Amino acid sequence: MNKIDERQDTSTNNSSFIKVLDLHKSFPARPEPLHVLKGITIELFRGEIIAIVGASGVGKSTFLHILGALDRPGSGKVLYDNVDVFNQSNNELAEFRNRRVGFVFQFHHLLPEFTAIENVMMPALIYGMDRKDALKRAEGLLKDVGLGKRLNHRPGELSGGEQQRVALARALVLDPTVLLADEPTGNLDTKTGKAVYDLLKTLNKDKGITMVIVTHNEALAYECGRVARMVDGRIESIDIVGSAEVTGCKDMC
Ligand SMILES: Nc1ncnc2c1ncn2[C@@H]1O[C@H](COP(=O)(O)OP(=O)(O)O)[C@@H](O)[C@H]1O
Ligand SMILES: [Mg+2]
Repeated sequence: MNKIDERQDTSTNNSSFIKVLDLHKSFPARPEPLHVLKGITIELFRGEIIAIVGASGVGKSTFLHILGALDRPGSGKVLYDNVDVFNQSNNELAEFRNRRVGFVFQFHHLLPEFTAIENVMMPALIYGMDRKDALKRAEGLLKDVGLGKRLNHRPGELSGGEQQRVALARALVLDPTVLLADEPTGNLDTKTGKAVYDLLKTLNKDKGITMVIVTHNEALAYECGRVARMVDGRIESIDIVGSAEVTGCKDMC
């Protein structure tokens, strides 16, 4: 890479991608609504890995769901490249979710009767991708996550870490620009959890996918670029902890 390319690369890394502005969310409850998100404002940079940490019940999952348009906020905005996500019709919102966002959850939610490759292909087929193309993509992704020799195993024939890697490949099959992971290692032992984390970092580096990872695991969180700490529905602090490579914001933050 020559000097000019390097500069361009750096400016891309520093660019603003997602802006979250004064997000509030309440859930209906008696005697009064449960006010879960109490004004979240944060900017995410293209290509970074940011961890969201905080005690159970502070609103991490609620925040992640809204960030990925799985749920709507009570008030506030989420802008992707300055486009107001919730200012779209339900159809546009579904398209946005399919094409731009990949989700990984604590429990992988793989379909037990289907093989690894069928599970990974599923979102692509539902989206209308040609079967051959979907197969090729799914195979490539399973190889990327180190499961090239497990294509035809069913989830029950895979270890916990392998299942989570299949879920990761599935989340990437429609080529999202952002990956949202909710406790992706929460159900794994320390060593397997670390391996999944290392894989996330490799995918972030190789594919440039922006990643937001909710985790209880402080040690793994501190391997990300930034750590945002949530307390009682707000972001209390944001620490830059990783190398410039994974902060994606080395000059701006
Ligand atoms: N769909 C819902 N309906 C009602 N209350 C909810 C709903 N989802 C989450 N909550 C409540 O909101 C609070 C925050 O939940 P959550 O975002 O899952 O926290 P965290 O992921 O940080 O553990 C919790 O008290 C939870 O019970
Ligand atoms: Mg949660």
